[in-house]
Amino acid sequence: MAPVAAAAAVFTKFLIFLFISITVNSTVIPITDMNLLEFPLNLEYFEAEYFLFGSMGKGLDAIQPALAAGGPPPIGAKQANLSPLVKDIITQFGYQEVGHIRAIKKRVPGFPRPLLNLSAEAFGTVINAAFGMPLSPPFDPYANDINYLISCYIIPYVGLTGYVGANPKLESPVSKELVAGLLGVESGQDAVIRSLLYERANEKVVPYKTTVGEFTVKISQLRNKLGNDGLKDEGLKVPIELGAEKKIQGNVLAADEDSLSYGRTPEEILRIVYGTGDEKSPGGFYPKGGDGVIAKRYLTR
Ligand SMILES: *[C@@H]1O[C@H](CO)[C@@H](O)[C@H](O)[C@H]1NC(C)=O
Repeated sequence: MAPVAAAAAVFTKFLIFLFISITVNSTVIPITDMNLLEFPLNLEYFEAEYFLFGSMGKGLDAIQPALAAGGPPPIGAKQANLSPLVKDIITQFGYQEVGHIRAIKKRVPGFPRPLLNLSAEAFGTVINAAFGMPLSPPFDPYANDINYLISCYIIPYVGLTGYVGANPKLESPVSKELVAGLLGVESGQDAVIRSLLYERANEKVVPYKTTVGEFTVKISQLRNKLGNDGLKDEGLKVPIELGAEKKIQGNVLAADEDSLSYGRTPEEILRIVYGTGDEKSPGGFYPKGGDGVIAKRYLTR
């Protein structure tokens, strides 16, 4: 190689090295991280709207309209008939979700609020699928504390498994810090919801003959089926082999054989929240599908 060409090659290598160092040392978030960080916005919007409407009868458009970024208002969301304690807790969760949306959007551009179907019928459809037959009268998540808490059992847990699943795929410390922070609060919310339900696990969900505990078991079985990647969801009562250290049937928190949280991929989450078992077929709570690079990859429309 001629000396000039050799020097040029060395210089080019130096430039590449410099570029990589600057990128790694700064707070620049790699593109793969960006995609993984924006994906949970789909769930955070759902949670924010469902908790805010359920507790206060108004959503992001009343509380932080800028965060909706012009996305359509949710369909069918309304105030639930809640006792003061549950209303207070759900109000706190609603405001926490506002913070979560803001935290994600501070780090990645994200997308506007997707169209959400939060109607009683959308939840009723999930419950019918969990039972394998239509309930009569149809399940109404907004009717009372226990129905609302059962409907909430559907939500933060799916977010939690998504954060557990995303964490090992992240490169940047900035991304990991965000996901750990989100995971902490989502698991706390899940624990609170599960504890409130656990206290009443043996009560019947009026007017049905099924107990609260049985409802959770059926919902978790449905999610395992839709997610289509094995056992990652457990109700409030489990066969003893699935309990902590295979010693106990009570299951206030869902976890694997080492009592670690289960993780799910974005694809598994889409299959569940679309209610179709297929990341390419939107539906359920997301009539037009999710937004962001990962969800849109599967949408042809
Ligand atoms: C909302 O979900 C219910 C139940 O699946 C469905 O009947 C209704 O058409 C949905 N609304 C929209 C606008 O997608």
